[in-house]
Parts: sequence; C-alpha cells; structure tokens
Amino acid sequence: MDFTMDRGQWSGRGAFVLAAAGSAVGLGNIWKFPYLAGEHGGGAFVLVYLACVAVVGVPVMMTEIMLGRRAQRNPVAAMAHLAREAGASSAWKLVGVMGVVAGAIILSFYSVVAGWIIDYLVRAATGSFAGLDPGGAEAALEGLLGNPHEQALWHSVFMLLTMGVVACGVMRGLERAARIMMPALAAIMLVLTGYGLAQGDMGRALAFMFAADFTRISPQTVLAAVGQAFFSLSLGMGAIMVYGSYLERHILIARATIYVACADTAFALLAGLAVFSIVFAHGMAPASGPGLILKTLPVAFGGVPGGALLGSLFFLLVVFAAWTSSISIAEPGIAWMVENLRLGRGRACVIFGALVWVLGIAALLSFNLWQDVKLFGLSIFDALDYLASNILLPVGGLLIVVFGSWVMRRTHAREELPLGERWFGVWRFAARYVAPVGVTLIFLNVTGLLG
Ligand code: PHE
Repeated sequence: MDFTMDRGQWSGRGAFVLAAAGSAVGLGNIWKFPYLAGEHGGGAFVLVYLACVAVVGVPVMMTEIMLGRRAQRNPVAAMAHLAREAGASSAWKLVGVMGVVAGAIILSFYSVVAGWIIDYLVRAATGSFAGLDPGGAEAALEGLLGNPHEQALWHSVFMLLTMGVVACGVMRGLERAARIMMPALAAIMLVLTGYGLAQGDMGRALAFMFAADFTRISPQTVLAAVGQAFFSLSLGMGAIMVYGSYLERHILIARATIYVACADTAFALLAGLAVFSIVFAHGMAPASGPGLILKTLPVAFGGVPGGALLGSLFFLLVVFAAWTSSISIAEPGIAWMVENLRLGRGRACVIFGALVWVLGIAALLSFNLWQDVKLFGLSIFDALDYLASNILLPVGGLLIVVFGSWVMRRTHAREELPLGERWFGVWRFAARYVAPVGVTLIFLNVTGLLG
C-alpha cells in the first residue's frame, strides 16, 4: 500500500507540543479529575495519580510518540508496519484497532459532557447564575440531565464542531486557535484559583487534595487513578501516536513529553483546588459525581461582580480545551479510514461521526429515559467511561510500551530517542519493567487475583 500520500505535518516542535498539549488538556483535567478525586477520597487518589503520571504516563507517552513518528502512518498501519520491521506477528495491529474502538467510545460520552459545558456557557452568558446558591445549582444541573432534548442538541453541536475540524485536517484546524486559547485558559484557571483563595476554603481544599489517608486506597481507587492518568495524557489509544506520526524526525521526544505531562498535571491540580475550595466553603459534598464542576463553579460565578462575563469566558475556554482534545480522539479512526480504507476525509468523518453520535445519544439517555438500564451495575454513560478509561486505555498502553521496549529493536528505539545513554537506559527500564508490571499488578489486584 502506498502510504507516501500527502499526510500533512506539524510546522515544528512548537506546533507539536501545542497540539499534544491541546489533546491532553481537556475535560479530563477540568471535569473528570476533580470529580474522581472527590469520589475517591482526595489526597490518596491524587498522590497515586501523580505517581502514575510519572512512572507509567511519561514512559508510555514517549513510546507512543516514538512509534508514531517512526512509522509515519495511522496507528493500525503503524503497528502493522513496525511489527513487520521487527519481525514480529502482524497481530500487533490489533493494538491500533483497539485504539480506534476506544476512540469511538470515549468521544461518545466526551461529546455529551462537552455539550453540558456549552449549555452552561449559554447560561453563564445570559446571567442565569446570578445569586445562585448550592441548592439552585443542583436544581439547574438536574434540569439539564433530565432533559434529553437539550443535551442531544448540544451533543450534536459539539460533534459537528469536532468533525468539522477533523474533516479539514487537524493541522490546519485548531493549531492557531489553540495557540491563543490554551494560555487564556491557564490564566483563567489561575483567576479561579485566586477566587478560591480569597472567597473559598483553600485550606481545606489543600488538605483534602494533598493529605493522603492511605487506608482509603482500594484496588478500585488505584485502577481509577491509572485509568485517569491514561485518559488525561491521551494515552493508550493511538491519539498521541497519530499526532507523533505527523512529526518530523529532528524533534526531541523526551523534552516534548515532559512539557506536555507538566502542563496537563498543572491544569488538573489547579482545577481541583478551585473546585474544592468552593465545595468546602459552601458545605457541598466532594463526592457528588460527574456533575461536580457544574454544581460548584456556577455558585462561584454567581457570587462575584462581573461573574457573568468571567463565567462565560471560563466555559468558552473549557469548550475550546474539549475541542482540541476531541479532534485527537477521533483522529486515529479517521486516519485509519482514510489511509487503509481509502475513504475521503470528509466521508470518513461523516461515518465515524454518525456512529459516535448514536453512541452519545445512548449515553445521555442514561441520565433520564434509560436511567434504569444497567450494564454490569453501571449506567450506560458510566459503563462507556469505565470500559474505555479503566480497561481499554491501560491495556492499550501496556501493549504499546511492551512493543516499544521488548519487540522493537533496541537500535531502532535508540534512533528515535537520541538521549544520553543514561536517560535512554531510564526510559528503557521504565518501559520494559516499571510500567508493564505496574499496570498488570493493578489489574490483578482489582480482579482479586492477588488476594
Ligand atoms: N486527554 C483528554 C482530556 O483530558 C481526553 C483524551 C483521551 C484525548 C484519550 C485523547 C485520547 O480531556
């Protein structure tokens, strides 16, 4: 097959770091991290999460970028090509296939949540948060979750936004917007954290997030933390791999990885601090599930002068953060359809988008009409999230890291990671032993096989 077709390329390292950071920073940081930390008791979860980012996330991200860049193909074709190069089984391409499937699942519920954010953007802009108390915020959220039409509308809008950009090609798509929006989002996160310091209960927020009560760590908590590390860093499904495949040779992968991981972690921690300082100042419950930021932040925006403007700006920027992520969730599937199935990019976007849209409708109905439908005891929404984040991403990441460090020839890895001998050794040790053993132990622990 001819893969030398014009696939496009990033304009340079800056553009790649920006795009990868745009992929990583998203709803995972602002929506998911605070609510997971709240549900899993705070500090213990946060510390396990940070450890997962450092010892599993960073080596996996380096490996994923490296595989993508070496192959210069979509994840399915990349794994097939690299397996051939290494003289290994062609079954490795299933890692890419699994990534495409995981992408469809993640995008379905991701788009629903992004839709909630658009809804809140409209509410903020029309001043409906003014003077809102926690009870009012809760009622507003229940109103939205109980309304399938409203959610379907915004879910559809977000899917159109996402597929519109992907259809134009990722590089030309959001690169420029991300350059302006991401720093603005960082600035407004700092403002919100400042609000937390001034008006909220930052002391309790800090204690909640960083004082670890290790008696609260269950196997499920650890699995949630590692799953969140994969989700937040966009790992395990080929998103970062396909972004790496648009990368030129001379870029230093290790440094780009550190930038992205640090930016991603900073956004998550700031979002957590802002949310929990509001939670504790108003006597709200930290463990209130996926609606946490929608119950807390409107109260803050409703209580300050200029809150309508600040709130609108905040939700707008979160929509952008979600948008720069959602295109990367779709890209492995789209690149695969274009390069392997020979579909036009536009047509691929319509097919993939329609499929994901339907799945998203099922996810949003699980808050209202299909409330009682349970899969393995979880609602459809929760089941999609659990399957993708806690199973598909860690398994995908495990296979990627094993491939890069055990199957691929050392000399080839060495070509892609021109680090000093010592740092290369550190990467290889982490990729061969630490990350795979860590993820395997976590799985065994959850299934109870460790006793
Ligand atoms: N990292 C994104 C976020 O935190 C979500 C994502 C998951 C993107 C998997 C790509 C792949 O919002």
